[in-house]
Amino acid sequence: MRYLIIIALITTACSGSRTNNKGLKDYYKDYFDIGVALPARNFSNEEISFFAKHFNSVTAENAMKTEPVHPLPNRYNFTPVDSLVAVTKRLNMKMRGHTLCWHNQVPDWFFKYEDGSTIDKATLYERLKAHIYTVAGRYKNDIYAWDVVNEVISDKKDEFYRPSKFYEIAGADYIDSAYTWAHEATPNALLFYNDYNEIDSIKRSKIIKMIQVLQAKNIPIHGIGLQAHWALNGPSESQLEQTLKDFSTLGLNIQITELDMSIYPKEHQSREWDATRDKDTLYTNDIANAQAEKYAIFFKLFRKYRKHISSVTFWNISDKHSWLDDFPVKNRKDYPLLFDKDLQPKKAYETVIDF
Ligand code: GLA
Repeated sequence: MRYLIIIALITTACSGSRTNNKGLKDYYKDYFDIGVALPARNFSNEEISFFAKHFNSVTAENAMKTEPVHPLPNRYNFTPVDSLVAVTKRLNMKMRGHTLCWHNQVPDWFFKYEDGSTIDKATLYERLKAHIYTVAGRYKNDIYAWDVVNEVISDKKDEFYRPSKFYEIAGADYIDSAYTWAHEATPNALLFYNDYNEIDSIKRSKIIKMIQVLQAKNIPIHGIGLQAHWALNGPSESQLEQTLKDFSTLGLNIQITELDMSIYPKEHQSREWDATRDKDTLYTNDIANAQAEKYAIFFKLFRKYRKHISSVTFWNISDKHSWLDDFPVKNRKDYPLLFDKDLQPKKAYETVIDF
């Protein structure tokens, strides 16, 4: 009898510790990868074991964007990227590449001749091609999926493409070429189009139309990335379901590439702190509960569309630091993730793993 009790105690202890060792990625192993966007800096041992426990995919938060990786015409800065790639490999994780062609965080020189005048289309093509070949080519054995083109669709109802510098100089054709060059540089990688506010039905139909045109031209595009910078007040369950349903008709891989949930109503434009309407909101129990419920709905739908969704990446590690602390309002603290500032799971974590 004494032996039986001891065996029972040991079994309980072991299964308890097994449960504790289970991370987010383990709960979702039959569904999709779980990723995290990481800065290029040194990580503590605690952080490293936290990453290893919960995630099996990494995106560089900034290090691969044009400005940091290609600051000057003849200078690439690969050191921070290489160190992230090394961490990712050490932890046996996959790596997503982000991003090869984006109108933001691209240095001025990219669009200018030495005398300061704007380059012509042929020069832009040369530069973009060289950039894509160099960056995507360097990591062709390390990065399995690239956000090739980011955010080219306009938020304005009556405008199709965003009037970016790329578009002003080259029209929309450079988009086709960007995918073709990326495919040439890294033939095995899955190539994505990535954008935000895809919940908006008008913007969504423009994205779908653009992708269908690319598909009809046999441009190598394999996936659609939904950034998913969402908020407590949206999207609703039906908006998200409609969004996933619409995108799944494309027959492409869907990835949730930059998930977070602001506790403030969603705004897409950066603006100054406005004392008449802005204040730091405390992360109360009510907010924690509402956020947990909302996260549960998002993940219920992700699971429902698991045939199409291959990866869900969170944008940033924990509530200790999020880009939303400075966007859209500078210095306004936000709490958008599943883990608190001490890397402890929040209520939202519990609802996301409870299925
Ligand atoms: C966009 C970009 C990301 C990141 C976020 C904010 O979603 O795709 O790289 O810059 O904005 O951090």
